[in-house]
Parts: sequence; structure tokens; C-alpha cells
Amino acid sequence: MIVPMLMAASTMLSPVAAEPVANPRPTYHFAPARNWMNDPNGLVHYDGEYHLFFQYNPHGDRWGHMSWGHAVSRDLTTWKELPVAIPETDVMAFSGNAVIDWNNTSGLGQNGRPPMIAIYTGFNPETKNQSQFLAYSNDRGRTFTVHGKVLDIGSTEFRDPKVFWHAATKRWVMAVVLAAENRVSFYTSTNLKDWTHASDFGPMGARGKNWECPDLFELPVEGGRPGEKRWVLSVNLGDSGVAGGSGGQYFVGDFDGARFTPVTNWGEAPRWMDWGADFYAAVSWNDMPAKDPRRIWIGWANNWDYAQDIPADPARGLMSVPRTVRLLKTADGYRIAQAPVSELERWRTGHKTAQRIRLGEKPVALPVTGGAVELQVEMDVGAAEHADLVLTDAKGYQTVIGVAPAANEVFIDRSRSGPHFHDSFTGRHAAPVDLKSGKVKLRVLVDQSIIELYVNDGTATITDRFFPGGGDLKWSASVRGGAATIRKLDAWTLAKPKAR
Ligand code: FRU
Repeated sequence: MIVPMLMAASTMLSPVAAEPVANPRPTYHFAPARNWMNDPNGLVHYDGEYHLFFQYNPHGDRWGHMSWGHAVSRDLTTWKELPVAIPETDVMAFSGNAVIDWNNTSGLGQNGRPPMIAIYTGFNPETKNQSQFLAYSNDRGRTFTVHGKVLDIGSTEFRDPKVFWHAATKRWVMAVVLAAENRVSFYTSTNLKDWTHASDFGPMGARGKNWECPDLFELPVEGGRPGEKRWVLSVNLGDSGVAGGSGGQYFVGDFDGARFTPVTNWGEAPRWMDWGADFYAAVSWNDMPAKDPRRIWIGWANNWDYAQDIPADPARGLMSVPRTVRLLKTADGYRIAQAPVSELERWRTGHKTAQRIRLGEKPVALPVTGGAVELQVEMDVGAAEHADLVLTDAKGYQTVIGVAPAANEVFIDRSRSGPHFHDSFTGRHAAPVDLKSGKVKLRVLVDQSIIELYVNDGTATITDRFFPGGGDLKWSASVRGGAATIRKLDAWTLAKPKAR
């Protein structure tokens, strides 16, 4: 065994080494200290703590040995990583979610305290069977006891349960995918252990090799009828996403505790959660504090097309920032809008502001520095071909955030953002945005190797990783084929707030 491993290592050291890719650890995005991470799992709030479990390989920086890693936070932005919560056994612990069983319907509570219940997919590497497992914790998520399998339909493509309490029918509901069939199955239960099939939804909208990681929640409709509420069903696709590879879509409709029905005229056109290449498997927190009406989700900032080849820092895996999700009724129908959680504003330091910056073909420097930055700009772009915010590294690599009125789109172009490491990584990802007014608002979060772009109050988002060649990032802006002005700019460096 040892000899071939040494040979492999020496081959790797042969002088074909490409230019090193710089990848400093993120400042305000969650990444584990080391090893591989994919989907967020088990998002639940309990006793003042937000839990973020995640798909984790404790033994390496590629996918494998899937277990539930664990981190907790009191403010959704400063995270403390804890030991693995649910380790691999004879089954790997695939994606799933967690609830607080307030009424002890499962009977697994202790000393009058409700148990934290994780429901997740157990993947048997030998049979390839995927079935739903229950594990419970009586110590605030620190350790879990595996109760065992609770739902098995003999399938190899049955995964990613999202469970929540449906108050109107006083039952637990599970949304889970029949991945290869592009369906979401709904099950109900009174005790989290016995599950009854209720209905199936799909295929509809974007189809692909598989559907994964569903979520279902109700939101008030802003701009709708007084008191109107609708349900959002989100579904991720392993391939065939809008920016290539993995992506997420959503449906808006009604849910009666058993069946999801999209609103009339929803049609087949997919509504994308995000227009970038790196926002996947987003799921939302259960059991938010009683006084907090927000729906907050977090996504894995990666894409199965190249996930295992991105540079490690030394961890390989990063989450988006937690985002509030709202539901709007617009002229085009129901649409979600996303924003970074307001808790992130506590990270702002060194406020810089500027007004009326006239752009030309020659780039003008923006009063922003560093790799952990929030930028808000209001731009008049008129009918210019495109107006760009450009991030340039010390080696001359550039990542471009562009506004293209003629095409009615906003984009991130990372085709020359750093040394090449994967063919599917380079590219340009655009969101359709109505720019007829000649005005646009951009909110840009940059954190070393990730851009989260929120356009026009988050009605479109583009999330892309980028891996520059090294050195400080410099910000500039320019315009092509017309005139553009930054009417107002606000920028902050984001740094960890001092403990209160
Ligand atoms: C989504 C996914 C899930 C699965 C998990 C395995 O990224 O493929 O469907 O449960 O990752 O790690």
C-alpha cells in the first residue's frame, strides 16, 4: 500500500504545477476549520442558539464518509464549530433536517425537556439504499443517539427530508425527493417515527438528473391581497441549473398539510433562486425565536460540476451568508427577494461614502479596499452598453460585476478571475433585470473568494466563487458604450465584531 501512495505523491510534485491560486479563509462566511463540507443540514434554533449542521467528511477534503458536522451561533454570523454530531456508521448520514419536538410527540424527550430530532437520509454504500433515519439529542444538539430507520421505500434515489410542524393540521410534514423522478413526496406523521405518504409534486419547471434538498414554508405576500399568504416550495437540481451545473428553483402555491398546488398560471418556466453558479441546497431554519417572523435560509456556495476541485483553504466548502427570504407579488407574478441577515451589519467598519462618480472608459478607483467588503451602489447606467465594477488582484486577474442595459441583465464575469483550475468554472452568469429606467441598485458582499450580489433589493441574486491569483484586491469602475454615474456609494470593511 505504501509504495504506490509514495509514487502517486511524487508524480503530483512533478514540475507541471500551475500558478498557485490564492484562497485566504473567508472572514464572515462559515467554513469548517478543515476538510470537506457540502449541504447545510438540520437548521434549527433552540435555546438561544442557531444550529448549522452540514454534510461533512471528517477524514478528508473530498466528498466521502458523510457525517453531520456542526456549528452554533447566537447571532447567525459568528459561528463556533463543534465536534461531529452524527458520524457515519454502516450508513452515511446524508442531508436532512432537525426540529424541536416541543410536545414530545416522539416520546424521546427527557426530564420534561423537548428533544432535538434530526431526520436525515441514511445511505448504505453497499446496497445504495437511501432511507430516512431519526436521531435525537437531549443535550442541545451536542450528541445524538440514532433511533434508527423510520421510512424506507426500497429506493436508491429517495433523500433529503425537510420536516416541519404543520400547525393547521397539527401534524409533522416531511418533504423529501424522489430524486431521479424529479418529484417531491410529502409524508405526514404524528410522532416523527411513523410516516404516511400524502402526495407527490412534479416534475415541473426545471428538470435534470436529479432533484435534491427540498424546502417548504409559508410567507406573507408583500403587495398581495390583505392578509395573503402563500407557500414556497424550493427544489435544488444537481445539474441543469441556470448557470450550469447545480442550481435551485422555487414554486409558489398553496399547501393544505397534504398537497402542494402551485398558483394558477405558474407555468413551466423555472423561477431560479439565484442566477450564479454557487448557491446550492439552500434550506431554511426551523423553530425561529417566537418574536422573529423572518424566514432565513443558507446555501452551500459551490457547484457539483467542480466542487471537489476548487482550491482548499484548507477546508473545501463554504456557506453563503444566511439570507432572509421574502415573497413579493410583482407585475410578473410571485417572486422571492433575498437579503443578507441584518445581524451582518454589526460587522461593518470603516464606512466610506461617495457621490456622483462619473464613469468613463478609463477605470476610476473606488474607495474600497480588501477582500472582506460590503458595497452598496446606486447607478445611473442610461443606455450604456455595460457599466462595470471590477475587482483586480495583484497579478492582474479580474472579476467583473456588470450592468448591461441593452441586454437588460446584470452579470458576474469570472472568466479571467484567477488561474485556471477547471473548465466548468470559468464563465459569465447573468440575471435578467429590467433596466429600462436606466437605474440599478447593487449590494455586493465580497469575502476573499465569494461574491454575493443582491440586485434591486435582492429581487435577483448572483452568487459566484472566484479564486484570484494573489495580493490585495483593488476595486474600480468603468463604462463602455455610453455614460454612467455612480449616484451614491457606501462601502464598509467587514470585520468580526468585538464580543459584547
Ligand atoms: C446534495 C446532495 C444530497 C445528498 C448529499 C450527500 O448536494 O447530493 O442530495 O443528501 O448531497 O452528501
